[in-house]
Amino acid sequence: KEIVVSGIRSTGFLHLGNYFGAIRNYVKMQEAYNCYFFVADWHSLTTHPDPKDLRGNVYRVLAENIASGLDPEKVSLYVQSDIPEIAELYLLLNMLAYKGELEKVPTFKDKVRLNPDNVNAGLLTYPVLMSADILVHRGVKVPVGKDQEQHLEMARNYAQRFNKRYGQLFPEPVPFNFGDDLIRIPSLDGEGKMSKSENQMATLYLSDSDDLIIKKMSKAKSATGKEEDGSMPEAVKNLFSLMDLVSTPDVIEHFKKTFEDGSIRYGDMKKQLGEDMVKFIAPIREKAKSLQEDQTYLNKIMKHGAEKARESAAQTLHEARKLIGINYY
Ligand code: TYM
Repeated sequence: KEIVVSGIRSTGFLHLGNYFGAIRNYVKMQEAYNCYFFVADWHSLTTHPDPKDLRGNVYRVLAENIASGLDPEKVSLYVQSDIPEIAELYLLLNMLAYKGELEKVPTFKDKVRLNPDNVNAGLLTYPVLMSADILVHRGVKVPVGKDQEQHLEMARNYAQRFNKRYGQLFPEPVPFNFGDDLIRIPSLDGEGKMSKSENQMATLYLSDSDDLIIKKMSKAKSATGKEEDGSMPEAVKNLFSLMDLVSTPDVIEHFKKTFEDGSIRYGDMKKQLGEDMVKFIAPIREKAKSLQEDQTYLNKIMKHGAEKARESAAQTLHEARKLIGINYY
């Protein structure tokens, strides 16, 4: 079975982007692949170092993954910090990562711009740790959203450099989505993508109440009429792309037709979309809520997942040390 690896940072509440960019694919892949899915708690420390938030976030990410259909019996579901081999591989890969290259990564530049007082080395080497996450299991396919594409390219570079310097060990991992093109779920205000910590009214979280979902949808950006050249305005495209994810084909057809003939009422469209979102999110929210209350169960999952993941990680590190020559006795 092909090896699949992917992770989600424990920096806040999971949203529709996390679901459609990542988790939906996790669930579809769990039958046919050898899957390692984890909570990237070390990664979250690069920007969210407060211990008081960490625990709750880690348990919630686990619960929301399981509530979305991930089966901890079929995949290895674990927390990054339970696998010390990842930290060891990160150290080794750091020798193959160049400062100039890391400084050019767009996600790093964004974070420097947003928070110039906390440009720590962990933030700079974020893509190296991420590469270690994947390469530690010799992962081949990595289900992620569009925003992770560049990080994956770096993982391939490090794999190549390691293989060239020390001998063949790592495959070159590629980003994966069942629909081919990687997904980017737009924010409801038309500004960029949905994200865990930015504009909360423009992001639909898996934990949002029915009323809040309806309210957020009603405030979503729409437009009046068509663009001058007759094409669909960006904000309307965004609404249709959300509809494609949760609404039935006849509903989508109906609103496409009314857009074409100019009779569309965006209030109606957003109301419909709100209702369809509620139908989609409510069952996940309720399941996650009850799972989160059962920490004993989640602890068991974490431990079980870590055991499986450590076995594979230890094997890779054994090979890596041998190739580098740091196996002295
Ligand atoms: P994170 O925690 O930001 O997001 C988790 C997953 O959700 C996807 N995603 C989106 N997809 C579509 N539209 C959006 N608006 C959207 N927002 C988020 C992300 O692409 C991601 O797949 N660096 C990673 C975590 C990580 C990782 C790894 C991933 C650490 N190590 C190893 C894969 C393999 C991150 O910050 O994801």
